[in-house]
Amino acid sequence: MARAIGIDLGTTYCAVAVLRETGEPEILPNRDGEDITPSVVLFQEFGGSDEPLVGTMAKHSAASSPDDVVQFVKRNMGDPSWRFDSSGGASYTAEEVSAIILKRLKEDAELALGEPVHDAVITVPAYFDDARRTATKHAGKIAGLNVLRVLNEPTAAALSFGLDTSAEGIVLVYDLGGGTFDVTLMRIQNGEFDVLGTDGDRNLGGFDFDNRLIEYLAEKVQSQGGADLLGDTSQVAVLREKAEMAKRSLTTVATTTVHISADGKPYRVPVERSEFERITADLLRRTEDLTEMVLEDAGVTWGQVDHLLLVGGSTRMPMVRGLVERLAGRPADRSVHPDEAVALGAAIQAAVEQSSSIGEQLDLYEGQPLVVADVTSQALGVITVADDLRTQVNTIVIPRNSKIPAKLSEDLLTIRDNQTALHVEVTQGDDTDPQYVVVVGDKTLPLPPYPKGAPIRVIYAYDIDQTIFVEVIDLTTNNSLGTFEVDRLANLNDDQLNAATAKVSKLSVL
Ligand SMILES: Nc1ncnc2c1ncn2[C@@H]1O[C@H](COP(=O)(O)OP(=O)(O)OP(=O)(O)O)[C@@H](O)[C@H]1O
Ligand SMILES: [Mg+2]
Repeated sequence: MARAIGIDLGTTYCAVAVLRETGEPEILPNRDGEDITPSVVLFQEFGGSDEPLVGTMAKHSAASSPDDVVQFVKRNMGDPSWRFDSSGGASYTAEEVSAIILKRLKEDAELALGEPVHDAVITVPAYFDDARRTATKHAGKIAGLNVLRVLNEPTAAALSFGLDTSAEGIVLVYDLGGGTFDVTLMRIQNGEFDVLGTDGDRNLGGFDFDNRLIEYLAEKVQSQGGADLLGDTSQVAVLREKAEMAKRSLTTVATTTVHISADGKPYRVPVERSEFERITADLLRRTEDLTEMVLEDAGVTWGQVDHLLLVGGSTRMPMVRGLVERLAGRPADRSVHPDEAVALGAAIQAAVEQSSSIGEQLDLYEGQPLVVADVTSQALGVITVADDLRTQVNTIVIPRNSKIPAKLSEDLLTIRDNQTALHVEVTQGDDTDPQYVVVVGDKTLPLPPYPKGAPIRVIYAYDIDQTIFVEVIDLTTNNSLGTFEVDRLANLNDDQLNAATAKVSKLSVL
């Protein structure tokens, strides 16, 4: 059987790994020999059709052809209105752009392994909601992959750490990548990986630290008499490249100088590490607050944390390591590779899934089955009407951090005599005020003509991939009134999915 691969589909960089026969996961280099591939697509046009180029060469083109380059597409996953229009005249959804990246990763893996690849586990931030998870699965499908499951990135990192070190106990995974921040608390015991709690921010990563530096550089150029560079897309693209390079330099040296040319004149902007830390202090602070909140919600103190894992390229910044080690009062574990841990863990899970699909059990953990128990990252609720029959309230059905798969229900009463329909609105978010939560799906189901106060049960089932299924039961007769799967609103339907698969399979991706 062809081997299953693990894919870390990052906001800025991707990595691919496979579990070797020895039981050790290993990174598969791309066709250029690199261990990580920038998640960047350059849309080149040849004879009226697109020939997308993925990776390092595409990343280098971002400054010279900003209009033909797509970066950070992961931030747009699950946003049905987002499109990239290529100069070849085609329009791409976020799923399609991600699929183009995945297609390239798949082909590179096939080259490295010398065999075709079908099955894959793709990782997602723990904080991704259902729509974003489904969009990721769709991207895999469009790329011609059989997505065995989507796996949370911090869980994947803990898997590779656990297998590598045989460590047990409570693990805190602090993952600051290119575009997202995730913090997860886990317990590893006898081959079981139990998630105790998770939180994060989908829009907090190295990208935001770069943005601060971009603003800083533009301001300094202006104060030296230069023009405002922020209004010019290609200048911003150039600044972005320089800012990221300066940020990386500041990880190893205390001062760096950025050279910028604008209106034909050269500008020199020195940046001190302490200054960079000052202009990004609030971003770091946000990660601190979220980390403290996860511990508090799980009822775990810093003293009980046995292992501290730093994952994601942005944890290389000295201020990040400093913060986490100061909070924990202990050094972070050094055995974790910030760029590779997630893909390695995904490869382990891919092999486990693949062997269990043929009824075998992979013996990785001293004879114990490897079990991953994740939790929901967002609360799910239903909108109901309060006793005054007017005010709408959001009633939580599945609280955040519930163990998945989860199945919970809420009993409602009909609010009128002869009420002929029930409108079920499924929400995502913690607030009781519907204004502060998102309606992720809804359906109107017919009701038998009962008097007011007839009991109705709404059951939510959350599966392992965090996809939501809803069933509504008429408690008077115990009959099902209907079932539905949530979130086809933000995602592609089957026809769109087939069309996208045909479109991407025709593209030759370089
Ligand atoms: N030496 C370094 N110093 C500072 N930042 C760095 C360094 N090396 C990499 N980074 C930053 O790390 C980020 C990339 O990290 P990583 O590859 O873990 O993210 P990702 O997986 O693409 O994103 P995400 O997990 O958020 O989807 C980039 O913002 C990059 O600038
Ligand atoms: Mg990542």
